[in-house]
Amino acid sequence: MIVCSCNVLSDGDVKACLAPGPRCPRTPAQVYRCLGCSPNCGRCVRTIRTIMDQALAEAGAEPLGTCEGGCCPAIPQPAAAEPAL
Ligand code: FES
Repeated sequence: MIVCSCNVLSDGDVKACLAPGPRCPRTPAQVYRCLGCSPNCGRCVRTIRTIMDQALAEAGAEPLGTCEGGCCPAIPQPAAAEPAL
């Protein structure tokens, strides 16, 4: 199903760039970047966020990870929290 008509992105395209790991896109903007495009009208942002949330839930709330295509190496990820002493 097409979820972004401006960039002709399907839900499968979005899911394909979401895989468990530290470099997974964490925002819709990072998903667009991973897929080699950028938002235009922005109407699809909420849908893409929903797909991302569902993928996170299906992954057992583990952090989403590296794009399988290796196209997102520059996405900054939050550092692991240091345990409080
Ligand atoms: S529908 Fe996705 S940017 Fe317009």
